[in-house]
Amino acid sequence: MSKGAVTILAIESSCDETSASICVDGKVLSNTVATQAVHEQYGGVVPELASRAHLQNIVPVVQQALLKADRNIQDIDAVAFTQAPGLIGALLVGAQFAKSIALSLNKPLIAVHHMQAHVLANLLVAPEPSFPFLCLTVSGGHTQIVLARSPLDMEVIGETIDDAAGEAFDKSAKLLGLPYPGGPLIDRYAKLGNADAFRFAEPQIPELNFSFSGLKTSVLYFLQAQTAKDPAFVQNNLNDLCASIQATIVRILIKKLKKAVVQTGVMQVCMAGGVSANSGLRAALQEAGKKHGWKTYIPPFEYCTDNAGMIAITAYHKYLAGQFEDLSVGPTARAGWS
Ligand code: KG4
Ligand code: ZN
Repeated sequence: MSKGAVTILAIESSCDETSASICVDGKVLSNTVATQAVHEQYGGVVPELASRAHLQNIVPVVQQALLKADRNIQDIDAVAFTQAPGLIGALLVGAQFAKSIALSLNKPLIAVHHMQAHVLANLLVAPEPSFPFLCLTVSGGHTQIVLARSPLDMEVIGETIDDAAGEAFDKSAKLLGLPYPGGPLIDRYAKLGNADAFRFAEPQIPELNFSFSGLKTSVLYFLQAQTAKDPAFVQNNLNDLCASIQATIVRILIKKLKKAVVQTGVMQVCMAGGVSANSGLRAALQEAGKKHGWKTYIPPFEYCTDNAGMIAITAYHKYLAGQFEDLSVGPTARAGWS
């Protein structure tokens, strides 16, 4: 290791992925993720079960991250963890583990905001955007447009006032009788369907904010009316339904992104979060980029979903800025933008 290199161990445990990453000078050497399959049978994440699974997974996940990066725990210069937002029991497991390591190694502790980290996932692979850039962060729990002026200077300029984009996918999928999480299945069936077959409500929300709860209601009423006439309606129209629902969600997202570009004058546009895996959304971003002259960026899938690599890169910038925490720090379920 070169003299002066900064090695960080980062831990992510905000929801249902236990993840650890080793990064050296802002370059991720390993990003290990244990996904918790236990929630599938319940149709959503069960907080109590998530905490227990984190407790089981955290030691092997960290050990694997060290092994893959070919580093020992003694090589670590700082320990980082996701402080907020997330499920409090899940966050506590990662926070407590990180604090114990920092205490035992006598190394600094860094607390990371999960949503800031999603945005900085765009710095993990080349070509990376330069600052300032806009980021549409779309996951199961969040939908935000962020203006990133520098790694540690970000502003949420738009967000959902109710459901997240991922919830819009998952709840619509549930109405179609698809298993949780339904987002990837809608994506798959949408490829075979006609996106103009059906129209669903598109809310008129002011500024750069989003609303998705009306879409779910619109899908529900439409399906109720159609299945009353034809009980096999969903089965016979699944591909078209998926394509139309997906196109509606994508239109809502891209419309606000266009507005954000006009409002800020920032032409570099990134995406982050699990929903950015959606092929319709990826294509729409690229198309909008070509049409309007934006430079567009989407991280590889492993850095779109919850992962410790994004926590590590954020922690690296906080390390350079000397932003460390006292060992009495704790996580919070909800947190404003730091
Ligand atoms: O970021 P993420 O892995 O977890 C958090 O919510 O933090 O995002 C999960 C969400 C789920 O709602 C899932 O249905 C959605 O991302 N998702 C997709 C696709 N892949 C994952 N939604 C639409 N199309 C996809 N291909
Ligand atoms: Zn997330």
